Formats: sequence, structure tokens, C-alpha cells
Amino acid sequence: MDIFNDYSLQKLNTFGLNVTAKHFVELSSVEQIAELIKSNVFQNEDHLIIGDGSNILFTKDFNGLVIKANITGIHVVKEDKNSFFVKAGAGVEWQDLVMSCVKANFGGIENLSLIPGTVGAAPIQNIGAYGVELKNSMEALEAYDLQNGGKRYFLNRECNFGYRDSIFKNELKDKFIITNVVFRLSKIPTLNTEYGKIQEVLNTFEKKDPTIQDVSNAIVKIRQEKLPDPKKIGNAGSFFKNPIVPYELLNALKKSFPDMPSFDQPENYVKIPAAWLIDKCNFKGMTYNGAAVHSDQPLVLINKENANGQDIVHLSQLIQQKIKNEFGILLETEVRII
Ligand code: FAD
Ligand code: EPU
Repeated sequence: MDIFNDYSLQKLNTFGLNVTAKHFVELSSVEQIAELIKSNVFQNEDHLIIGDGSNILFTKDFNGLVIKANITGIHVVKEDKNSFFVKAGAGVEWQDLVMSCVKANFGGIENLSLIPGTVGAAPIQNIGAYGVELKNSMEALEAYDLQNGGKRYFLNRECNFGYRDSIFKNELKDKFIITNVVFRLSKIPTLNTEYGKIQEVLNTFEKKDPTIQDVSNAIVKIRQEKLPDPKKIGNAGSFFKNPIVPYELLNALKKSFPDMPSFDQPENYVKIPAAWLIDKCNFKGMTYNGAAVHSDQPLVLINKENANGQDIVHLSQLIQQKIKNEFGILLETEVRII
């Protein structure tokens, strides 16, 4: 286990920001985590766990220890009549897990195709897309307690999953390293094609009996059409969460904005697409220093030209202020700002 000093994080954040960590360590086993927490550097420094940095915005160098959990492996650990239980290491690329499961015809995570990042980070915000969230197929996870030492298992219901939310963003923030995640995947997949344009794109494939591979292909196609590829343009996906507001507020707003879209939520709440609010305020393409609002998907902020983290934060605050003034809605950031 080597601990590096003044380590560049430029390749470990998808905004591509040129920042460093005072210390950096990559861990490939639970034993190494146990060893790390006894070290002076861990005990004396702040720490940040990182996967691929596809949901983190650094506004400065990190003055502490950055820990990358690199446990690998994808295995079927159990099966019953209807399901395969697949365990994947925290360091596995999410898309590699999705592709292995789609290829094997294990159903459940195909709608989450092409989401960047690692398996270990996926439960943190309960990743979601195209009508499916991680919580729909996650059985349990294994984590290591950084405060008290020792492994702990969390069942799905113990993770308090919500929309882009979990216990690991709240009470247990930065207290556990997720080491492995177990998914319960269906032996007889049912296709989930209700959301957005999936069915429309699927129809263009002209397949008589579409499979989860076809659904995955359709989603990859839709995503590639509107989301910028972080390898080409620095970004972290949606910068803000879609706001969930009481139905009455929507009704009041509809008097001035009759075309405001919304999606029903439980208990008389509605989700309003933040992209629509930002678009309505004409932010598409707007720049601040090197930071910009993406022209096709205004919920995505991009590092257009050598922006630094503070430029991106500044642009995000301009958006938040305008949306607050115009609609009385506070946009919460989805991206973790450090
Ligand atoms: P990081 O960004 O490195 O970390 C994210 C958080 O997880 C941090 O708080 C970090 O401390 C913590 N963390 C990381 N690994 C561990 C671990 N092993 N144990 C404990 N804590 C850990 N998200 C969606 O939900 N849906 C989408 O459709 C989607 N689309 C995206 C599209 C693009 C182009 C991009 C760039 C991002 C998108 N995202 C989306 C966001 C991102 O892909 C997810 O949040 C992803 O899970 C982050 O993984 P990561 O490994 O990069 O985590
Ligand atoms: N819209 C506009 N103008 C635009 C683009 C979109 O008005 O230029 C409006 C339209 O009404 C559209 C709506 O916004 O119907 C929703 O847009 P889209 O389908 O692109 O989805 P989103 O709400 O912007 C969310 C997630 C994405 C996820 C997609 C697909 C959040 C914060 N974002 O985006 O997740 O991939 O749905 O399910 O929930 C991420 O979290 O990083 C992420 C990319």
C-alpha cells in the first residue's frame, strides 16, 4: 500500500480540473483498508473517498487524504428460482457490470446503461435513469467502518434510499467505504420501456422480441445524443437535482407558466424538470470564464475552456439565484462540491 503525496487528481474528476491531493492511496482489499485506518496519515488528516470523480467538483486542492477503493471482481454468489445474486467490487466500472449482466441476460440494471462511475459509488446517490434506480435491484452491500474498524453489511432497506439520496449522504457521510455491492437480478427479465423515448427508439430497431440488450442499446443511443462525453468535454452529468415541490406550488406557477412540465410523485408532490426551469431562463450556452451551461442539456454544466472549480460554482449560483427569483424554487446541487 503506497501513499503518494501531492498527487494529481486531474484524471480522477470528470470535470478534468487540475487539482491535487495532499495524500492519495489506492486500496485493493479490505485488509489494506484495515491497515490504512491505523496509519498516522489517516488518523491525522481529513479524508475523501473517490471513485471516478464523476459526481465531484473540486474548487481547490484537497488538503488531506484521498482514498480510492479499487476492489475488483464480478461473481454470481447465489441463485434461487427467479434470481441470480451478483456481487461486484467497489472498483468495478459501473458500465462494465451493466454490460456483463446484459450479456448474460440477467435483468434489472439495463436501464442504468452508460452511467459513468464505479460500483462502489453507485449506492451513495442511488443512481437512477430511465425509470429505474439502483435501489430496485440492490440486495445488500458490504462496507468497512472507517471510525471503528470492521466490516458491516447493509441490507437495501437499511440504506434509506431516496431520489439521488441514501444514508451515506446523510448520517453516515464519509464514515464507511463501500467495498462490494450485491444485486438481485431477474432470470426472466421484464423490459422497462415506459420512460421517455425508449419505446420509440426501440421501435426503430425493428426487433420482433426485443431483449434487455436492445433496451440497453436504445438507452445508450438516447444518452449519447444529449449528454456530453466527459472524455471530450468536462462535466459531471446533471449538476442539480430535479426539484420536488408540493402540487399547490405547481398549480400556482402554472398560472404564469401554463406549459411547465411536471411528473407526479407520492403524497401530492410533483417533480419539475430543472432543465426546463433553466432553459426557460435562457441559460442555454451561457458562459462564465471557462464554465458553460451545455446547449443541448442545460442541467449539465461543462468545463468548456480551462475553467476552474470556482468558475463552475459561480455559474451554478447565478442559475440558482435566477431560478429562486423567477419561480421561488431552490435548486439543490446533485454534484458534491469540495
Ligand atoms: P465519485 O464522483 O468519485 O464520488 C461520488 C460520491 O461517492 C462522493 O461522495 C464519494 O465520496 C463517494 N464514494 C465514491 N466511492 C465510494 C465508496 N467506495 N465508498 C463510499 N463512498 C464512496 N448519475 C445518475 O444517478 N444518473 C445518471 O443518469 C447519471 N448520468 C451521468 C452522466 C454523466 C456524463 C456524468 C459525468 C455523470 C452522471 N451521473 C449520473 C453521476 C455519476 O455518474 C454518479 O453519481 C456515479 O455514481 C459517480 O460514481 P464515481 O465513481 O465517479 O463517484
Ligand atoms: N428539458 C427542457 N429543455 C432541455 C432539455 C430538457 O425543457 O433542453 C425538459 C423537458 O421537459 C424534458 C425534461 O427537461 O422532458 C427532462 O429532461 P431529460 O429527460 O433529459 O432528463 P433530466 O430530468 O434532465 C434526469 C436525471 C439524469 C438521467 C435522466 C434520464 C436528474 C437530476 N437527472 O435528467 O441523471 O440520466 O433523467 O432518466 O434526476 C445525473 O443524475 O447526473 C443524470 C444525468
